[in-house]
Amino acid sequence: MLRRLHSEQPDSFAFTSANQAWAEAQVTKYPDGRQASAVIPLLWRAQEQEGWVSKPAIEYIAEMLDMDYIRVLEVASFYFMFQLQPTGSVAHVQICGTTSCMICGAEDLIAVCKEKINAKPFELSADGKFTWEEVECLGSCTNAPMAQIGKDYYEDLTADGFSKMLDDMAAGKPVVPGPQNGRYAAEPKSGLTSLTEYEAGKPGYNASVELATTIGDGVKRIQGDEVPLLTPWIGKDGTVAGRVVAGPTPAAPTTPKPAARQAAEAKEAQKPGETEKKAETPVVAEQEPLTLKEPRGGKADDLKRLKGVGPKLEEALNKLGFFHFDQVAAWTEAEVAWVDTRLKFKGRIERDGWIDQAKTFSTGERV
Ligand code: FES
Repeated sequence: MLRRLHSEQPDSFAFTSANQAWAEAQVTKYPDGRQASAVIPLLWRAQEQEGWVSKPAIEYIAEMLDMDYIRVLEVASFYFMFQLQPTGSVAHVQICGTTSCMICGAEDLIAVCKEKINAKPFELSADGKFTWEEVECLGSCTNAPMAQIGKDYYEDLTADGFSKMLDDMAAGKPVVPGPQNGRYAAEPKSGLTSLTEYEAGKPGYNASVELATTIGDGVKRIQGDEVPLLTPWIGKDGTVAGRVVAGPTPAAPTTPKPAARQAAEAKEAQKPGETEKKAETPVVAEQEPLTLKEPRGGKADDLKRLKGVGPKLEEALNKLGFFHFDQVAAWTEAEVAWVDTRLKFKGRIERDGWIDQAKTFSTGERV
């Protein structure tokens, strides 16, 4: 398969401040002059933040690691885990189509993808929320058929269960990764026959599923402040060779429990006969903002003054009907959600602080 940079690229890339701190901390794992060893984790974090690896992200990471651009492109284009084209704003679904999964129903899962997402792999669904592809064995054959979505495995899938899972993800409802048929891991479906003493005291979920539910859900974009930045290899004070690695403030002990965990606990506490109360992640309803057919007085504001907006993004905003800073400044949360869905680089409005900047620019103030 030919893997090359996508024909449409964003104008810029930057880690969020928490992801930047995380990335700088990863570099300190390696001796001076060997910082290039951090290239894969940094590319992966860029993908976790943006959904895919763009050319500006490759260049940004190359500069951070003092590498030639081509060296980072070689890594990103070699490993299939890096998506080089825009992916669904909610999830990119990787269906294993190799022997065990194929025998156990992978083709049914692919049929769901074709019906619900797009007939072609790597093409966005009509609502822009999903993309899919078929991949080779992901090493979870005992839990076939399975799919990888983001960092997590969803195993022991059925076509109906997988279809509902996509609906839940699209609606912003928490979905728990891991085996979907009640298994804890890869033990026999009828239960453990040995090592049964380890049953007691095990965590609520197995391995990465426990982490996914702790972070909140399995498909969210990683902003870097979901968990405290831990750097045990350089000591508790975060210093190495005289350098201090900044990190996000550790979460307070009163941090609310993630929605998926709340739902699981509510279910456990449910009395027999009680109707199940579903814990749902609040979804911001989209609302179309006021748009214009053309700029007022025939002269549009220079929207490129907003952080991260280049000529292509300005053109996209104009096509949606936004020409002036006062339009952007007036967006409500629901309107931001509407615009976000229609831009290719979800989350940028909030992350780059467009509304505050637009408020300043619309008063004629220069920054
Ligand atoms: S065949 Fe699907 S995970 Fe191995």
